[in-house]
Amino acid sequence: MNSRVKVVVTGAAGQIAYSLIPRLVDGKTFGDQIVDLVLVEIPQVVSKLEGLVMELEDSSFPHMGNVTYTDNFSEAAKDADWFLLVGSIPRGIIYEGKKIEERSDLLKINGGIFVAQGEAVGRYGKADAKILVVGNPANTNALIGKKSSGVDTQLWMAMTMLDSSRAKSVISKKVGCSIAKVKKMIIWGNHSPTMYPDVENAFVDNDSVGSVINDMDWVENNFLPTVQQRGKAVIDARGASSATSAAKAALDTIIACENTTEAGDCFSAAVASDGAYGVPEGLICGYPLMTMEDGSVEIIRDVTLSEYAKEKFAISIAELESEREAVKHLL
Ligand code: NAD
Ligand code: LMR
Repeated sequence: MNSRVKVVVTGAAGQIAYSLIPRLVDGKTFGDQIVDLVLVEIPQVVSKLEGLVMELEDSSFPHMGNVTYTDNFSEAAKDADWFLLVGSIPRGIIYEGKKIEERSDLLKINGGIFVAQGEAVGRYGKADAKILVVGNPANTNALIGKKSSGVDTQLWMAMTMLDSSRAKSVISKKVGCSIAKVKKMIIWGNHSPTMYPDVENAFVDNDSVGSVINDMDWVENNFLPTVQQRGKAVIDARGASSATSAAKAALDTIIACENTTEAGDCFSAAVASDGAYGVPEGLICGYPLMTMEDGSVEIIRDVTLSEYAKEKFAISIAELESEREAVKHLL
């Protein structure tokens, strides 16, 4: 008999969720397991989820288990294995008469959501639950959620996989290779324009991307701004924030956590610092991660950072500290 996994998705009537949810039950993301879904929305739109459930039923997914929807997050959280916390406001919209330009502008609006959700994850979720925060500002929302959960055995992550996929795409075009050949693409720091996508430690075949490209001017003036500002570029072009690429990145994060990481590779997500690489303890910081054979997710600790990289990383760490300061009343 197949084993089962219970997955809670918030923001289930939103853009990312529409692309994400069907692929949770396609037999690929969770392999051969039966996936029970609980879809969560705010009371004003929760009834719309009836339509999504109808579509899921009509799609004939052999790995789909029970699918329910609710506006009660605590009820949804009972014995869940995975939480995909997408529900929150995106930037690019007008809020209280002001256009939301930066992800950090979302702190005041979205931060509060993660106090109650964090408490419920800690109280009702499985002791080894994995939580992926997608809603922005993802790192600091995850910080609030983890702190509110009061549990140390659950794994809180903020999504930086989209940034690493974007970086791989830019590198593969520059080098002229398939994207699958770009390995160990680390995103250090915050999911924000201060993130540091690390070219020097990425590899194509067995060669460092830094030495293959050998053009720090291109890294500084082209690669970094392109990756750091890609979210804004998509908003400007689409009139809405990235959705299908964000959904794919969430699925890739799940797959990375559910399968042992290949030797020599890593995956990107932000997790709580235990002081690794000099990052103040507790900050939810983008790191190179690997999933071990026993299923645990660990920070890779032996990556060497150049002086250039350390300087860039320090800027992002300082930003994470200032975000923590801004939400200290929620911690
Ligand atoms: P959207 O506006 O289309 O959908 C968000 C949904 O969340 C809405 O349906 C809303 O009703 C719901 N919601 C709000 N508060 C909720 C709550 N407390 N509980 C449950 N649901 C709630 O937005 P979207 O395009 O799907 O983006 C969602 C979030 O993801 C945004 O914050 C966006 O900035 C972020 N995002 C992050 C990344 C990343 O790489 N980390 C990438 C893309 C988007
Ligand atoms: C992204 O990187 O696409 C998301 O974080 C959305 C945004 O606001 O940029």
